[in-house]
Amino acid sequence: MTERTLILLKPDAVERGLRGEILRRLEAKGYGIVALDQRVADADTLAAHYAEHEGKPFYGPLVEYMGSGPLVAVVAEGEGVIAGFRSLAGATNPTAAAPGSIRGDLAREWDAPVIQNLVHGSDSVESATREIGIWFPALG
Ligand code: CMP
Repeated sequence: MTERTLILLKPDAVERGLRGEILRRLEAKGYGIVALDQRVADADTLAAHYAEHEGKPFYGPLVEYMGSGPLVAVVAEGEGVIAGFRSLAGATNPTAAAPGSIRGDLAREWDAPVIQNLVHGSDSVESATREIGIWFPALG
């Protein structure tokens, strides 16, 4: 099914100059880019995006990390893109992520209270709809 997903190239991806490499993998897989915007995320946007993690021990460091510098928000489109991009991204933990995946190849293991893993991708159709509405209200 053709669907849309919300992808974030997190501040570590931007800082390390990996935007092109990550977007290249996305496009090489055949997915389209519907919208793309680099910005420093504000507190309200991050609170909405990460509402499900509020109260967890890594919530504070997560919001701090995600607001620490520019990130790139992307809406991608394609057949099965929600699961497909999560497959391209690899496991949440960079050490566990398979070689060949974005995180397996590129994310470094950090001795930090929050996992810095380069990218976010929506995990379901419902999440994608919600997250696209948060980051790109005009598309929501
Ligand atoms: P993401 O899947 O984009 O959204 C939640 C983020 O929180 C996740 O990426 C990681 O960056 C971070 N995260 C998830 N689980 C943990 C954990 N157990 N400890 C630290 N950070 C985490």
